[in-house]
Amino acid sequence: MLVTLASAKGSPGVTTTARVLASVWPQDVVLVDADPAGGDLSLWSPAPDGSPLDPDTGLLTLAVEARRGTVTLEPHLQRADGGLDVVCGVQHPGQVAGMGPVWPAIGSVLRGYAGTVVADAGRLTPDSPALPLVLESDALVFVVRPTIEGYAHLRERLRWLATFDSGMRPMPALGVVAVTDAREAGAIRDLELLLGHAGLRVPVLGAVGVDQKAADVVAARVARGIDRSLLVRSARHLVEPVAQLAQSRAYARAGVRGE
Ligand SMILES: Nc1ncnc2c1ncn2[C@@H]1O[C@H](COP(=O)(O)OP(=O)(O)O)[C@@H](O)[C@H]1O
Ligand SMILES: [Mg+2]
Repeated sequence: MLVTLASAKGSPGVTTTARVLASVWPQDVVLVDADPAGGDLSLWSPAPDGSPLDPDTGLLTLAVEARRGTVTLEPHLQRADGGLDVVCGVQHPGQVAGMGPVWPAIGSVLRGYAGTVVADAGRLTPDSPALPLVLESDALVFVVRPTIEGYAHLRERLRWLATFDSGMRPMPALGVVAVTDAREAGAIRDLELLLGHAGLRVPVLGAVGVDQKAADVVAARVARGIDRSLLVRSARHLVEPVAQLAQSRAYARAGVRGE
């Protein structure tokens, strides 16, 4: 099952949310850095012995094998400190150019993984090379800040995505997660209403608390001691709605194929 997180614009906290969500995911999970702009995962996460992860093992090696055909995810995984299995991403956008038409194949490898894959696709703009991977996802969750601009860009991006829905193949189930202060609880309801008024029936699955201290810890390679933080607690509440969203689509796909 493949759950992809992305933003419509800006830097609302996709990487932080993806990382924390994967960390609290209760079943077998892999975190994939699929941000074509160059990901931070290999920088953020040391191996359990404190040594850096090998940035060349991950998306790039997966791309090489996916081009050849038969692929399993396992050889491209590295265990990060804390026990999370990760697929490191590209280090700079130039490396993406060489990956070319292999993105859909990577998407289906990730989707076919026996556990859950949480992928960070970065900014999902119309020229994103990761779009074919995103379209392979069971769930696509947009991370937004509940601001006027955040909402406007999200709405446009959702409309644009709808143009890919030809009815010929299952699209990812769409959802939204707001990075917002607990005091702005109304913001989630407002966001859903605004999307509804725009004719976009996309559920707002929940909120990730604004918790700069814990977000800094996540980014500082020391993902310890934040178990009870607002960030981690709010991410736990997202697991069930995100899993349900993705499962609904995974079943639909299986039904289409008669599996
Ligand atoms: N839930 C959060 N609470 C507070 N700050 C956050 C949160 N998520 C992300 N941030 C901060 O926002 C900035 C961008 O986060 P990042 O996860 O790298 O976003 P993106 O992947 O969307 O570019 C970082 O400074 C990060 O610490
Ligand atoms: Mg990011």
